[in-house]
Amino acid sequence: MKPIVQVVFAAALLLALVPAGHAQNAGRQATVAVCSGCHGAHGEGSAAGAPRLAGQNTEYLSHALTMFKARTRASVIMQPLAQGLSDTDIQALSAYFSGQSAPSVEADSAAMPLLVEEGKRLVATGPVRCFECHGAQGLGNGARYPSIAGQPAQFVVDRIHEFQQRARQSTPQPGTMTAVSTLLSEDEIRAYAAYLSRLKR
Ligand code: HEC
Ligand code: HEC
Repeated sequence: MKPIVQVVFAAALLLALVPAGHAQNAGRQATVAVCSGCHGAHGEGSAAGAPRLAGQNTEYLSHALTMFKARTRASVIMQPLAQGLSDTDIQALSAYFSGQSAPSVEADSAAMPLLVEEGKRLVATGPVRCFECHGAQGLGNGARYPSIAGQPAQFVVDRIHEFQQRARQSTPQPGTMTAVSTLLSEDEIRAYAAYLSRLKR
């Protein structure tokens, strides 16, 4: 695998070179290509941990990009990339990826069937009911509750760790994902992630 730093650097450079103004459409095509390098040609995500963007709520995506740009959401990869995006770029890219459809990258994976079964059991009968917030089958509910169906397992694991990290820094508000994350053990997180990665969106 290419060192991630190298990819980020190349991607940031490409974004900086993307022309503004007249060549806006050509520029946006070039930007989509940069994003697709990690998020997949149709925003399907990657098993390496880049999230699925296809079929995600548009406002959720634009909010995420705005937070990366403002550096209020952590990511060594996305923060520098988002600096090069205008508000118009953010709207256009969010609408573009939200409108894409493609199979989940791990939908057909035969790996770790026991973990998938355990995740399925936890989602249905465990102490934390993911779909009460994230919508039936994890397909999302409005701009606040993103779809978590079909997310690559690695992304779900990394993201929940990040919420847990935040919870250690300051006491989370009840009802937030940061609060929810404190209730999950490492084994449970892996099981939820394995199951969610197999779901269709
Ligand atoms: C070098 C790889 C890479 C490139 C290039 C890249 N991303 Fe990302 N992106 C990631 C990773 C990894 C994450 C997960 C970050 C995290 O939450 O820790 C992410 C997160 C996101 C998220 C948050 C999604 C969610 O559900 O939380 C959005 C939106 C996003 N990227 C959009 C884009 C767009 C638009 C582009 C092109 C301008 C782009 N990304 C380019 C790797 C990349
Ligand atoms: C009380 C409501 C609630 C429950 C229950 C809940 N979540 Fe969340 N979750 C949220 C909210 C709100 C967000 C958006 C957080 C943000 O964007 O900062 C979120 C975000 C996420 C994300 C990040 C998605 C992305 O695209 O960036 C993942 C992964 C996630 N939740 C997984 C889960 C799992 C797995 C469960 C069950 C164990 C669960 N959630 C239960 C409210 C909830």
